[in-house]
Amino acid sequence: MRILFLAHSFNSLTQRLFVALRGCGHLVSVELDIADSVSEEAVALFKPNLIVAPFLKRAIPASIWQQHVCLVVHPGIVGDRGPSALDWAILDKEAEWGVTILQANAEMDGGDVWAHVNFPLRIAKKSSVYRTEVTDAAVHAVLAAVEKFAVGTHPLPLAEMAIARGRIQPPLPQAQRRIDWQRDCSAEVLAKIYSADSVPGVLDCLFDVPCYLYDAHPATSAVLASVAGAAGEIVARRDHAVLRRTIDGGVWIGHARPLQTDDAADKPFKLPVAQWFPEHVAQLPERPAALMRPYDEWGELRYREDGLVGFLSFDFYNGAMSTAQCQHLRTAVQFARQRPTRVLVLLGGEDFFSNGIHLNRIEAAAHRPSESAADESWNNINAMDDLALEILTATDHLTVSALRGNAGAGGAFLALAADFVWGHENVLLNPHYKNMGNLYGSEYWTYLLPQRVGAEGARELMQNRLPLAASDALRIGLIDAVFGQEASAFFGEVGVRASALAQSEDFEVQLAAKRARREQDEAVKPLQRYREEELARMHRNFYGFDPSYHVARYHFVHKMPHAWTPRHLAIHRTGSSHQPRTAS
Ligand code: COA
Repeated sequence: MRILFLAHSFNSLTQRLFVALRGCGHLVSVELDIADSVSEEAVALFKPNLIVAPFLKRAIPASIWQQHVCLVVHPGIVGDRGPSALDWAILDKEAEWGVTILQANAEMDGGDVWAHVNFPLRIAKKSSVYRTEVTDAAVHAVLAAVEKFAVGTHPLPLAEMAIARGRIQPPLPQAQRRIDWQRDCSAEVLAKIYSADSVPGVLDCLFDVPCYLYDAHPATSAVLASVAGAAGEIVARRDHAVLRRTIDGGVWIGHARPLQTDDAADKPFKLPVAQWFPEHVAQLPERPAALMRPYDEWGELRYREDGLVGFLSFDFYNGAMSTAQCQHLRTAVQFARQRPTRVLVLLGGEDFFSNGIHLNRIEAAAHRPSESAADESWNNINAMDDLALEILTATDHLTVSALRGNAGAGGAFLALAADFVWGHENVLLNPHYKNMGNLYGSEYWTYLLPQRVGAEGARELMQNRLPLAASDALRIGLIDAVFGQEASAFFGEVGVRASALAQSEDFEVQLAAKRARREQDEAVKPLQRYREEELARMHRNFYGFDPSYHVARYHFVHKMPHAWTPRHLAIHRTGSSHQPRTAS
């Protein structure tokens, strides 16, 4: 079938549906929601059999849904209606939630039901639930709905569905999420922040400045015992986060967005708390998290061992890695390499493996008189390269990148620096840079990528700029193994496989082969040359006459609405009836 996506943005859920439907042999084109007339034009050009709206913030125009079947993905159980479905579910601590596929009609979320899938609702931030449970359920439900449509089955009117227990919910107002530090327990504070993370955040105050709060984590009694303070008081710092007391404990708060800045022209955006309030945070007592520590003690970096295997996780908010975070992680890799283990598993974060350099942190430098975005970009990419080099040259261990979450741009190439790359079935990779203002990219990709997919395959991946399902990545040799349907099954199996690798009879042979390969490759062309060539191109991106990267980053960080749909997604606008390949 010819399937047209109408979407607010090509976000991770839209991307998963895109790869899943293409995987079933459908021709999929995408039009971002810019204006009704543009959507109408897309329909006229593509002549779709079916329209899918994976993620829309506005209603589909009647001129479209009256003529075509439009499937709307609603992140709520059957009967639930409204724009804050998941926010309410998390705030209300629902035990079970779901995704419903509705047919668009005149009533928002009131159309006939094509399919629905429920799941247990995890206590986690909204964006994490959206990227995992909601996305997985949406893929199953959309595939089921598309199959029903293909064979001519009709959807069920909502009123006839006995299981409909959802209700119409208004947009969740800030007043409903307001934290009362003198009354709310830690679980309540966390639920409020989780329900609004990543958008819109909970409006509160930090150091007397009105701010939206994000990135909250429970504090342990061990750390709380070391700092006195009344409920609501900010009492300590760790990494870039602050510890705030509640009536029965405390929570770490990692990110904030002030309601406004001193310069009215500057639109504030999300940054680590320590970036917004450096002087205040510096005065707080530091409570660093040791690399090896109890599981419930929050911190960005964590290292643990199981027999001959070391596991290093780096749970950076949104997978973004600033200069300092890359440097800390590199030190942690150096530490892990000194340990008496044989295999080092790089686990990334729970939601993302990595999304490359920290674009918000770089954008912040553009707004500070003493800093420059070009310099910060340069520092950040060099720190990423140093980290990638540390992994690439770890000839004392066999290394594995285990993708629990998606990997994008430089984060995808960082994963390739390990000897083996494993992922689970639901993981997505975006192994390309060009979407960020034609960025050339570094992280030794010119060495790593052709080795895995060949020169032509590398060129296609970079040019096509499309997401890859893990199974496609495996097929083209970009990654080495795909197992486990989702992250938890995968995680368990990673331990088993890594342990088997460490105990394999030919471990020393494998390690010697790795050393020999590295030496041969170095003799042919030193890693330093790859790096210099890549960085010469990046230098032009950062400091050259063409401002595309700076403009694209500004648009990305400030979440500017799209003005057009990129041609590689809107194939109906290229005159092509073929889908670009995901490399041969
Ligand atoms: N730096 C800073 N923030 C980043 C980031 C980065 N490199 N990558 C993602 N984010 C943030 C987004 O701004 C968004 O923030 P929010 O919490 O305020 O919503 C959040 O992470 C999730 O990103 P989103 O784009 O909504 O997620 P997705 O899963 O739909 O898409 C990507 C994932 C990787 C395709 C997309 O985020 C992306 O293109 N990121 C930029 C990658 C990049 O160009 N890196 C620089 C070159 S190495």
